[in-house]
Amino acid sequence: MLYFQNHLIKTLFFVYLLANQSFSQEDKQCQPRQVRLLIGDDYTHYKNPIQIQNTATIIFQTYDQCIHSHIKVFIKKNETLYQGSEGKREIVHSKWNGEQFCHNGKKCSKLYYDQYTHIFRLPIMMGVEFSYVVFGDTDSKSRVFKSKLPDLIQEECNMQKFLFFGDQDVSAQANTTFQSLMQLKQKGEQSFNERIESFVFLGDYSYEFYQNNGQKGDQYLDVVQDIIAEWPTVFSPGNHEEQYNYKFFNEKFQLPNFKQTQNNYFSFNQGQVHFIGVNLNYFSRWADNQNKLKMLKWIENDLIIANQNRNQTPWIVAFGHKPIHCVQNDDCSMSPFIYRQIDDLFYNYTVDLFLGSHVHYHELLKPMYRGSIQAYEGNLNDIKYPQGMITVIQGNGGQENEFQTDFKQNLKFQDRKNHRSFKVRYQVGYGILEVHDKNRACIKTINSQTSELKDQYCIYSFHRFNRDLLNTEPVDDYVQNKKQKMIWRILLLLLLIIISFIFIYRYLRFREDHKNSNF
Ligand SMILES: *[C@@H]1O[C@H](CO)[C@@H](O)[C@H](O)[C@H]1NC(C)=O
Ligand SMILES: *[C@@H]1O[C@H](CO)[C@@H](O)[C@H](O)[C@H]1NC(C)=O
Ligand SMILES: *[C@@H]1O[C@H](CO)[C@@H](O)[C@H](O)[C@H]1NC(C)=O
Repeated sequence: MLYFQNHLIKTLFFVYLLANQSFSQEDKQCQPRQVRLLIGDDYTHYKNPIQIQNTATIIFQTYDQCIHSHIKVFIKKNETLYQGSEGKREIVHSKWNGEQFCHNGKKCSKLYYDQYTHIFRLPIMMGVEFSYVVFGDTDSKSRVFKSKLPDLIQEECNMQKFLFFGDQDVSAQANTTFQSLMQLKQKGEQSFNERIESFVFLGDYSYEFYQNNGQKGDQYLDVVQDIIAEWPTVFSPGNHEEQYNYKFFNEKFQLPNFKQTQNNYFSFNQGQVHFIGVNLNYFSRWADNQNKLKMLKWIENDLIIANQNRNQTPWIVAFGHKPIHCVQNDDCSMSPFIYRQIDDLFYNYTVDLFLGSHVHYHELLKPMYRGSIQAYEGNLNDIKYPQGMITVIQGNGGQENEFQTDFKQNLKFQDRKNHRSFKVRYQVGYGILEVHDKNRACIKTINSQTSELKDQYCIYSFHRFNRDLLNTEPVDDYVQNKKQKMIWRILLLLLLIIISFIFIYRYLRFREDHKNSNF
């Protein structure tokens, strides 16, 4: 009886919730939300600008199917570049019926979700200011967004800036980053030199994007819309987005080459950079052997072409959520071995930089290959002729759980000559990659709370790693130090025991002597 009563109350409550929800959304079913401007397919592989099909992919969500959704793109003040949807639009139905989502077996919840993703693949010219409005139907539209796609090829003297970071939610910490980025955006609108070309988001957004029936993730995308609807973006997937082989994530985002590689690997050129995105978590946890081979083959092929084009894009920058190299911790200690095949390709084809996140801090690593530090000249501010890929970790967009200060002990070893890391910082912030010319690129890190420049590292490179200089010496850091520490502790303990024994022995002797002398 009690069971039925309970059941009835639950059912009524559920019906009430449903009714409430559909009521509150009633006349906003086609209102476009979470607008995002992503880099399109044809930034990739050096296509002739005349044949450009898809340079920008504009995406938004609606609650209803809204088959009349469309888009208007303007150039100059009032000239319509494109209007409509025909041949350019795909609508993806994102529907979940209570499937269980967890992160590493924790934070489990069921996902009930029923929304539509509108994806527009557009041929917008590069290097031209444009504005656009998206429509869910005739009366439901977004505000006007303004943007400019980065040039494919840029004058050598023209410095290009790219923003990058990952691991962010909408906590108070994260909001300092949003605020700082809005300031940066205003600066860019006022001064050409402050312009950001594009934004590489390195994965893990909102923690967890499936919670509250997906509202947690949607809330994040609503907040970040001001940034990613105007800065051309690549939003690469993190391990917190991995459930069901990234299906829910892939229903929201389509990065270059999506139909072939499902957001797991892709590349594009901007200015003097060839960017290549790799989802290493997919490689180690989701791909079977056949898919691993496919991914390796694709990366190799991409890097062969990129190297042939190196006089136009001298810098090859890989990025992704999980890095191959970082300071020792549970996740990173094995990475150079787990991702060895990718590390080999990156070394053989001289990938200059890896932008990663995953670990919640900022770190600059020395040039690394196969877990060993490779040669370089100069110092942390002017790194000259690195003989291996340099990794920058920017997993500090800001999130509720604060920093992973369990790695703080690593700071002590930073000054060791043979430590893999140049610098570790625990602060909320973001990174900017500034490409100056063929041979010089700089990384800047900004503190979100103060918008202050914290570090500047410049890298000078001829984009060749000399195999004769290959170093295979193991690094001297955390694990070894941990072992050493353990040995010292045991020795100290033994010493204490011996001293205590001597002391007790002497004390007993003393008492005995004393007794004897009393007689
Ligand atoms: C755009 O053109 C329309 C009509 O052609 C005009 O009414 C409107 O004021 C123009 N807007 C701007 C911003 O020039
Ligand atoms: C961060 O900003 C968003 C959007 O303005 C807001 O919804 C959220 O509550 C803020 N977070 C905190 C912790 O204040
Ligand atoms: C990298 O280059 C070395 C030396 O030329 C070669 O032996 C090795 O097979 C290459 N590895 C990959 C993955 O390309």
